[in-house]
Amino acid sequence: MTTSRRKFLSSISMLAASSALPIHAFSFDKSKKLKVALVGTGIRGITFWGKRLVDEYSEILEFVGLSDINPSRLEYGKGYIGASCPTFTDFETMITRTRPDLVIVTTKDSTHHEFIIKGLEMGCDVLTEKPLTTDETKCQAILDAEKASDKNLIVGFNYRWSPYATKIKELLANNAIGKLVSVDFHWYLNTYHGASYFRRWHGQMESGGSLWVHKATHHFDLLNWWIDSEPEEVFAYGDLEFYGKNGPFRGNNCRDCEHTAKCDFYWDINKDQFTKKLYVDHEHEDGYIRDNCLFREEIDIYDKMSAQVKYANNTLLNYSLTTYSPYEGWRVGFNGTEGRIEAWQDIPYFKKDSIDEAEKHAKEMEQTGKDEIYYEPIILHKLWKTHETVEVPMEKSGHGGGDKRLHDKIFMTPDTEDEFGRTAGVRDGAMSILIGVGARRSIERGKPIKIGNLTDLKPKVKRG
Ligand SMILES: NC(=O)c1ccc[n+]([C@@H]2O[C@H](COP(=O)([O-])OP(=O)(O)OC[C@H]3O[C@@H](n4cnc5c(N)ncnc54)[C@H](O)[C@@H]3O)[C@@H](O)[C@H]2O)c1
Repeated sequence: MTTSRRKFLSSISMLAASSALPIHAFSFDKSKKLKVALVGTGIRGITFWGKRLVDEYSEILEFVGLSDINPSRLEYGKGYIGASCPTFTDFETMITRTRPDLVIVTTKDSTHHEFIIKGLEMGCDVLTEKPLTTDETKCQAILDAEKASDKNLIVGFNYRWSPYATKIKELLANNAIGKLVSVDFHWYLNTYHGASYFRRWHGQMESGGSLWVHKATHHFDLLNWWIDSEPEEVFAYGDLEFYGKNGPFRGNNCRDCEHTAKCDFYWDINKDQFTKKLYVDHEHEDGYIRDNCLFREEIDIYDKMSAQVKYANNTLLNYSLTTYSPYEGWRVGFNGTEGRIEAWQDIPYFKKDSIDEAEKHAKEMEQTGKDEIYYEPIILHKLWKTHETVEVPMEKSGHGGGDKRLHDKIFMTPDTEDEFGRTAGVRDGAMSILIGVGARRSIERGKPIKIGNLTDLKPKVKRG
């Protein structure tokens, strides 16, 4: 192995091990590119981790293998990414034949653990999409595999990397409101993005672990990072009252449903060439339907969720997730011994110019790199003083600019210091999903759940 390759891998190790550790300088040997293999050639795999890496980082890395259970989606994905590597429907065969340095996991959530564990066992570093996994048993298996391996595991938490989230972290880390005592955090998914989860595999607990895990892992990771402590106990309520069995009628798929004329959620997947080519054209292989009816009976996840979490440093969190709001956005309030921080994103009534709700999700996921800069406020209100407004420069594409920054950090500038500790390892991945898993168990059992009883990880008063 060349020195530069070793340095790259050790820098990944530093990323994974702790956000507090400095990341050592290294330089890439451009004649020896990082060998990357990816499993899961769905939308996230081929856009953010596929095409974007090829477009932006081809000088330092190359795809050596792509894998998916759906052979024709796999071929489409290879073309979309622009890679010239072989494809495999069997993951182990791909690893054995291509010997990658790094495996990227972008399959559906309930299968992440299989590829994380196999990847580590077969001698690769692994970078997984969120959520780390979907329940406590799989989480423990990942923790055990990571412990037994000398390889490293990174969780791609992109939200931490948005300039807005980072500014909140900076204010809290600098004690702008004294000692943090409690947090209110509320996330509103609209009837486009929220509904989209109920159309596909995310609508079933066994595939995505419910939105307590699939979606809220982002939120709980942000909160753990902002609060800078680990969750100790969670108590939650949740129900399914809008989608699924609650719908007034139902059909097979949206595109040719007999109720299209009267259904507010009608969506013709074939109108968009990209979704047609990525999903519809390959349905015959595995029966994966992307435009399922969101009123189908088998949906068994919650569509309204509320939790209270007590952190090991005694911070109290009030959290909610709504899935059928007229707008998509979020609000957070931090109460400290010396004041309060209020922050929000995309609340339409607070904006001068509004963006169409139907376009919002597409804009958020956009990876074109053509970033428009604009400013978003954070309110800092110290006790006994008038409030001040902190203006944060933002980008409209890719999770507020977080997606791009995460990539740059991993592939371009792993040697620069990450003063806000934005890189996330296995413990961060576990702690964020364990709140959601604990919330599910709390609803099932009607009582608070101790996070420390879910796996062998014991919550720390201070992260890191
Ligand atoms: N960080 C983010 O902001 C973000 C955004 C979108 C998706 N994601 C994550 O990315 C992952 C993929 O999501 P998506 O929206 O691309 O889903 P998708 O349904 O479009 O793609 C999933 C792919 O995985 C493949 N797959 C499923 N089971 C498999 C198996 N056992 N072996 C091999 N391949 C398998 C499917 O055939 C499909 O091609 C999910 O874990 C999701 O949580 C993260």
